[in-house]
Amino acid sequence: MRVFVAGLGAALACLLVAACSRQAASPDVDMPPGGPRADLTAAQKAAFDRGLAAFTREYAPASGLGPHFNAPSCATCHNLPTAGGVGPDSILVQVLFDKQTDFVGVLPNQHIAGRQPLPVPAGGIIDRRRGPPLYGLGLLEQVTDDEMRANCDPDDKDGDGVRGHVNVNPHYDGRPGKFGLQAHTSSIRDFIGNALAGEIGITNTVNRDPVKQRDDDAVPDPEAATSVVDDLTAYVAGMAVPKPARAEPEGLAVFSRVGCATCHKPDAGKLAPGAYTDLCVHSMGPKFDSGIMDFSSRGDEWRTAPLFGLRFRSTYFHDGRAKDLPSAIAMHGGESAGSAQRYSALGQADQQALLRFLAAL
Ligand code: HEC
Ligand code: HEC
Repeated sequence: MRVFVAGLGAALACLLVAACSRQAASPDVDMPPGGPRADLTAAQKAAFDRGLAAFTREYAPASGLGPHFNAPSCATCHNLPTAGGVGPDSILVQVLFDKQTDFVGVLPNQHIAGRQPLPVPAGGIIDRRRGPPLYGLGLLEQVTDDEMRANCDPDDKDGDGVRGHVNVNPHYDGRPGKFGLQAHTSSIRDFIGNALAGEIGITNTVNRDPVKQRDDDAVPDPEAATSVVDDLTAYVAGMAVPKPARAEPEGLAVFSRVGCATCHKPDAGKLAPGAYTDLCVHSMGPKFDSGIMDFSSRGDEWRTAPLFGLRFRSTYFHDGRAKDLPSAIAMHGGESAGSAQRYSALGQADQQALLRFLAAL
C-alpha cells in the first residue's frame, strides 16, 4: 500500500494526476493537507516532525507489533490523500461490544506468527468503521466543556426535534468526550495511547486500560515510551485545519436555512471557527444503529462529523456507506431527518448551491 507523506508524496501525486494542478493553483488552498499549523513554535514543529515519523513507522514483531493487531502503522488507516487523511475503504476496524463484560473497543483481526485469532465472544456485537481523517483535529481540543454543553440541547428545549447530548466517559476524567466517532474520549493524547495499543499492539502507559499496558509478546513493556505518544499527539494536534477551497456564501446560507448548521455548527466554540460540528452525539435513526452502547452514546448516536476538509474524503459516514454528497444528505435519518427533507424540497438552484458549498470545504 502507498502511504503519501504530506509534502513530497502529494506533490508527486500531482505530477501524475492532472487534476491536482487546478487545485494547487488556487491561492487560498492548503495543499497538500496534513501539514503543520503556521503558528507552531520551533519546538512544537520539531515534535510534529518526530510525530509524523512515528505515525508512518511500520512496526514489526521484533519492535513490538501485536501479538494481536489491525495494521503495522497509524498511517495504514489514516493516509488518503496524505498521512493524516481518511483510511482506505478496504480496511474497516471491528469495534466489539461485549454485553457480558460491558467491554467496548477494538477487536484486532490479525496476529503474529504462532498465535490464534481472537474469538468473538458469544453474543458480542461487531461494528465496522473506516479510519476518519485527522486533519485539523487540534481545533476541536480548543472547544471548552461549557461550550460543548451549550452546543447540545438534550431536552430539545427549542422544540426543533434535534436533541444532541455530550458523551461522558466515567472511567477517564469524567469530561465530555470529543474524539472517536461516538465521542468517547476527551483528549487526543488519551485516544492515541489507546490506538497504539488497540490497533498496533504497542503497549504504553498513557492509555488507562491496564490490559493494554502489558502484553505477552517477546518485547518488554511498555513497547512505546511516553515520549512517542507525546510526539504523535504533537503531530495530530498540530496539523493545520484544512481551509475551504473558496467561499460559498450562497450555499452556506442554504445550509443554515434547512437546518444543517443546527448540528454542523460553523463555529464549535470561540476558538474553533469553521469546525462545522457541535461535538454532540445525535440519533441518526435505525439504519445507523450498531447496537453498541458506548458510555452514554447509544448505538444509533454518532458525533456530528466535523466538515472541514470534507473535499479530501471520497466516501462519507463512519463506515463510508455514502458514495457521494447527495446520498449522504438523503441518508440523514433520526434527528437529522427534518433537514434532509427540507433539502429534498428545495429547488435545483438551492440544492446546487448547497452542494457547491460542501464540495469546497
Ligand atoms: C486499523 C486501522 C487504524 C489504525 C492502525 C489506527 N487507526 Fe486511528 N482510527 C481508526 C478508526 C476506525 C477510528 C474511529 C474509531 C471510533 O471512534 O470508532 C480512528 C480514530 C482515530 C482518532 C480520533 C479521530 C476523531 O475524529 O475523533 C485519532 C486521533 C486516531 N485515530 C489516531 C490514530 C493514531 C495516532 C494511530 C497510530 C497510533 C492510529 N490512529 C491507528 C482506524 C485506525
Ligand atoms: C441532527 C444532527 C445533524 C443534522 C441536522 C445534519 N447532520 Fe450531517 N451528520 C450528522 C452526523 C451525526 C454525522 C456522522 C454520522 C456517521 O458518521 O455515521 C453526519 C455526517 C454528515 C456528512 C458526512 C461527513 C463525513 O465526514 O463523512 C455530511 C456531508 C453531512 N453530514 C452533511 C449534512 C448536511 C448537508 C445537512 C443538512 C441537509 C446535515 N448534514 C444535517 C449529524 C447531522
